[in-house]
Amino acid sequence: MTPTAKPGPLLHPFAKPGADDGSFLRLVRGEGAVVFDDAGKRYVDAMASLWHCNIGHGRSEVAEAVSRQMRELETYHLFEKFSNARADELAERIVALAPVPDSRVFFTSGGSEAVDTAIKLSRAAHAQAGRPERTLIISRAPSYHGVTYGGMALTGLPLNQKDFGPGVGDVVQVPKDDLDAVRVVFRDNPGRVAAVFAEPVIGAGGVYPPVDGYLTGLRALCDEYGAHLVLDEVVCGFGRLGSMFGGQHFGVRADLTTFAKAITSGYVPLGGVIVAPSVHEPLGADPDYVFRHGYTYSGHGSACAAGLVCLDITEREGLVERASHLGDRLGPALRAIRDEGLVADVRGVGGIWGVGVHEGENLVGVRDRMLAAGVIVRPIAPTTLAICPPLVIEDADLDLIPATLRAALT
Ligand SMILES: Cc1ncc(COP(=O)(O)O)c(C=O)c1O
Repeated sequence: MTPTAKPGPLLHPFAKPGADDGSFLRLVRGEGAVVFDDAGKRYVDAMASLWHCNIGHGRSEVAEAVSRQMRELETYHLFEKFSNARADELAERIVALAPVPDSRVFFTSGGSEAVDTAIKLSRAAHAQAGRPERTLIISRAPSYHGVTYGGMALTGLPLNQKDFGPGVGDVVQVPKDDLDAVRVVFRDNPGRVAAVFAEPVIGAGGVYPPVDGYLTGLRALCDEYGAHLVLDEVVCGFGRLGSMFGGQHFGVRADLTTFAKAITSGYVPLGGVIVAPSVHEPLGADPDYVFRHGYTYSGHGSACAAGLVCLDITEREGLVERASHLGDRLGPALRAIRDEGLVADVRGVGGIWGVGVHEGENLVGVRDRMLAAGVIVRPIAPTTLAICPPLVIEDADLDLIPATLRAALT
């Protein structure tokens, strides 16, 4: 803490607890891909807030649907005997979009809870199918799967685990893109692996699309060794890669698909897991079995009302196709900056991009110069600037992102 720092009452996530209250940028208004701070300064939100605001900020249609729902019945829980209309409707909508026919949906309040739920669903389905010894989870490094003890244990970013004690047990990490490493874990642990977790495109772990054939290879290994494949689509789901789901983009079927973020574009917190028959059938086979898991806000009625409108907007405005357009326009502009030698590496698909700066470059400094110029990007350790704008971003604002990056580097 600097001697003059005065922390405020709000303890910020992923921030220095001793940071001065005055050092935070307070955003007060948004419109499409643009947000404004409390001094009226305009920013292009090239991160869709935190990878989530696909439909853009300030959409009154969502506010009206949530307000209508809150006046009617804010929510009713889904435990045991109860249901609510919006949760039923949203589950039906998501299942109709799901890559695997006859899937079902379990709702959570966000992505980390979705990941924990997927761990439990996988282990419980194996147990109910007479394979209780299948508890081992394989995840990859780098990767990001959230911050609950389950999600943290799966996350392949050691700094996110430091000082927090053990996460959930029975987790083995392998390097990304290395199918041989996955096969070794399967061979060394016969009949023990419950599931392999993978983001279609690694997001907060550095923005890494998979190498060709990796995800289909992972699917084949899971089939060969009897494990579930879990695609963590918290960032990729609902259009980000130019397909409704990342699994579809790469031609891979998942047993469990986690989602959050874009399902409501962050207007109200909501997440969940799409559960394919390979998992929900064994869970439902014994009529007396109870899946003892769920959150007070699983299927929150007002959040599901927001989700329904966000899906309407996504479909009506062609936002899935728009993600491909973003990639076609942003990708070449970023590669040109790389080809000039200003950055080391450019990676991305559709509406998600990572720019690898040269070693020794001050990543936060580049971010801060871009911020001063009115563009919000996100530095992610150790050398990547992440770009993930709202899918509704106008071309002129989209073009500002590489232009501002170039200026911040030169
Ligand atoms: C792939 C992935 N999984 C899980 C999470 C955790 O989601 P949440 O922050 O909503 O708990 C994130 C968040 O960025 C994510 O990117």
